Order: sequence, then structure tokens, then C-alpha cells
Amino acid sequence: MPFEAPLRVSGWRPHPGPQTAFLRSTADECLYGGAAGGGKSFALLLEGLRDCRNPGYRGLLLRRTYPELRKSLMDQAHKILSGLATYNVEHRAWTFPGGGQLMFGALGDDRDVHRYQSAEFAYIGFDELTSFTQYQYEYMLSRNRNIAGLRNRVRAATNPGGVGHNWVKARFIDTCPPYEKRWFLRDGADETVVTADTPRARSRNFIPARVTDNPTLMEADPGYIARLEALPERERRTLLEGRWDISFEGLVYDNFDTTLHVVDAVDLPPDWLRFRSVDFGYNNPLVVQWWALSGDDELILYRELYATRQLVSDIGPLVRDLSANERIMTTVADHDAENRAELEKHGIPTVPAVKKIAEGIQACRRRLEPDRERGLPQIYLLRDCALRRDPHLVAANRPTSTQDEFAVYQYPRDAGGTSIDEIPLDLDNHGMDAMRYAVMHVEQMKARRYGGPQYRWRRLEGI
Ligand SMILES: Nc1ncnc2c1ncn2[C@@H]1O[C@H](COP(=O)(O)OP(=O)(O)OP(=O)(O)O)[C@@H](O)[C@H]1O
Ligand SMILES: [Mg+2]
Repeated sequence: MPFEAPLRVSGWRPHPGPQTAFLRSTADECLYGGAAGGGKSFALLLEGLRDCRNPGYRGLLLRRTYPELRKSLMDQAHKILSGLATYNVEHRAWTFPGGGQLMFGALGDDRDVHRYQSAEFAYIGFDELTSFTQYQYEYMLSRNRNIAGLRNRVRAATNPGGVGHNWVKARFIDTCPPYEKRWFLRDGADETVVTADTPRARSRNFIPARVTDNPTLMEADPGYIARLEALPERERRTLLEGRWDISFEGLVYDNFDTTLHVVDAVDLPPDWLRFRSVDFGYNNPLVVQWWALSGDDELILYRELYATRQLVSDIGPLVRDLSANERIMTTVADHDAENRAELEKHGIPTVPAVKKIAEGIQACRRRLEPDRERGLPQIYLLRDCALRRDPHLVAANRPTSTQDEFAVYQYPRDAGGTSIDEIPLDLDNHGMDAMRYAVMHVEQMKARRYGGPQYRWRRLEGI
């Protein structure tokens, strides 16, 4: 699929960098997402031209509402397509000389997808994907097929934020390192990363958008960046910086950034100090985290159990077996005496966690903050380190890992909507609590100089 095809047809050129990378993507699904103004909607339109010479080509570009559709896509479509194709107002469709068609539609609520129930599109493009529901997106994937021998593809563009922020982030940003294509196999609610040759695997790809991607805009409107810089904190972070970890004001760890703190799995040197931290729960998740500490005081969450409706008596042997070949120094646990005794029965003695909330949060924030010199933090999470996604949590649309909790762990708000920075809301905070216990454990250890100079750990390579 030569990426030059849309260019040959229209005479428009994608800008070098992410816009070109997006048009070159060979993944089944590709998201171009992040900062505003990078040329994302324009790229969706160019992609819609790729197969326009094929008489059997049908493409569909979607927005959530008609006014948005008109403003962001249809006006630009006129700019690009006038002279190349003819427009039918009633069907909102452009027809190319050979018979191929590019259509436009809006999906107000979930039922609107059924309008397309017998249709087939080789190309489906979603503009502002975070304004759609996951149901709408997944339903439309079933319409992505054709009998004209064309390659099927789904493309999306978006800024962070919006009702769909969490599912979009989980589908593309948390799972796909920027620019890298990944393959996924779905089994019910579970999804695993697999190799390219796995039968039935589908590929995905995330292209981060920066505001500076678009020289057309920079030239035409030199004051654009200054206007974004003047926005309130949250809007500035999403629209100017294209940050995904900020979903609303009042986030406890608003300095958490998946592109910085979540890293691909690496083999951790066996001589690094390892320990576990545990937060008990039954209806709420029971969280067991495995941490490694490098010689440079970097904490790495390398494995995690995050499960509801599991008895400690059942989980105990699993926790022990998972650590079979590791030297675990200790296990820091929430104070519940019965559960701690149960772990002890399985050969997992525990020490009580330091539970001071405000102090613990400060310590975690300090570790998350990149240092000035190297721009690196002192805490990392290995990508996909949670052992499995709990189906009950998936069904309830709740976080399924510590990483998920960062986007929802927040302070309460007063009547006027201002957040009160004292004690966070007691909601979906189980991985956050376990992380706090782990961090406080290390702080305490450092204070006591426990382990002290006899450890000569190496820096974590490759981070
Ligand atoms: N390759 C290109 N060649 C010429 N003009 C371009 C190109 N890419 C984008 N533009 C123009 O730059 C402007 C901004 O692009 P666009 O609306 O696609 O950005 P966006 O990333 O979708 O912005 P937003 O985040 O606000 O939705 C538009 O006027 C568009 O026509
Ligand atoms: Mg746009």
C-alpha cells in the first residue's frame, strides 16, 4: 500500500514526521493522537483518498455529531476533494470518477451504529475518537470489510480528554509504544499481545501528535502556540502537550506520564533488591505488587496481581510460586491481622505498612517527578506487568491495574468544584495504596540505612 497514493490523487502532501508516519501505517488500527492542530483531521481525509480509484471502494469518516462533522471534516473535504469527486448532499457522499465513494456520518448515541448494520467499508476513520464510546468503535470494526480486494483499515484521530479518554488510552496509548506496531489477540474480555504470525491477531499502532507537526498552521498562525500556552492547566496539558495522563483537575499524581513511567519489560538483574507490597480486598481488588530496587534507588514495579473475589488462602500459594526463583527480602502489607496470618501460613511473612497517607503521597510524587539533570524519574512500571485483567473489573469498567488507577485517583472537590488537596477519595485506590506502602518501605529502609553500602547495584539498563 504505497503511502504516496493519496498524494498522487490530490496533490496534497502530508507533512514530514507524524503525519507521514500515520499515512504509512500498515496496522489494522492506527491512532494519531495528542496535541491540537497537528493536522490529524486532515490526515484522516488524505487516508480516505488512498483507494478512491477503485470502483468498489467505500470509505466512511465519522464524528460524534453533525455540527462537529461539518466544522472539522466536511469543510476541509471540500478543500481537498473539489474537482476530484462530486458531492451528494443527501447522502453526504463524495463519488470519485471510477465509482469509489467516501462518505461522512455522525454517531450520536450507541443505537446509531445500527444504521450501518448491512454496510461495508474498507476504510473507517473516526475523528476525535475520545468523543465516541467503546461500543460504537467496536461495533463499527465489524463493518470494516470489503469484497473489492482492498486492505481493510480503521484510522482515528483525537486529542486526549472526553468521555472515551480511558478506553482510548487503554486501547492505544498504554499498550502500544509510539510508532511501534503491536499485535493483539482477543479472548472474551481478555486481550494479549502476540507475535505478528499469530492467526487471527489484529495489529495496532499509535502515532503521537505534537502541535509543532504542522508547519502550515505554524506559518499561517504564528500566535497559535502562545494561545495554547495561555489555557488553563488541564487544557494546556492535553491540547499543547498532548498528555494522556491528565483526565481532570484534582488528580493526585498529575505528574504521572505513561510515556515516561511505563517502560517495556526488561530482564532485571537478579541481584537487585526485591520485595512485595500487598493491599487486601475481596469485592475490591486484592493487590500484590512485586518491586525491584536498583542501586541508584530506582523502584520498578515488575509484576502485579490485581484481582477481585479471591481469598488470600487461594492467592497465597500463587504468590509464593510466582516468586519461586527470586530472592524476596520482605512483604509489606496492609494491617489486617487475619489476612496477614493467612499469608504467613503460606510461607509469606509480612511487615505492617507505614500508612501515613499525606506523607506517603508526597514520597510517591517525589519519585514520579523527573529529575532536572537527566529528566528521569525514580519509579517505573513495566508495561503489562499485571498478570491478568480481572473480568469483573473489565465488565464494571473499573481500573484493572495500578497503572489504570493513576488516571482516576483524585482528591475530593468542594461545593464549588475546587479540589481539596488533603486525603484522596477512597475509590479505586488499591494499587495506589500498595505503591505507597512500597515507597514508604524504601524511604524507611533508607532512613535506617538498612541494606546500606553492601549493595552495589547497577543502573537499570535501557530505561
Ligand atoms: N499536510 C498538510 N498540508 C496542508 N495543510 C495542512 C496539512 N495538514 C494540516 N493542514 C491544515 O492545518 C490546519 C489544522 O489541521 P487539522 O484541522 O487537521 O488539525 P487537527 O490536528 O485535527 O486539529 P484539532 O486537534 O484542533 O482537531 C487545517 O487548516 C489543515 O487544513
Ligand atoms: Mg481535528
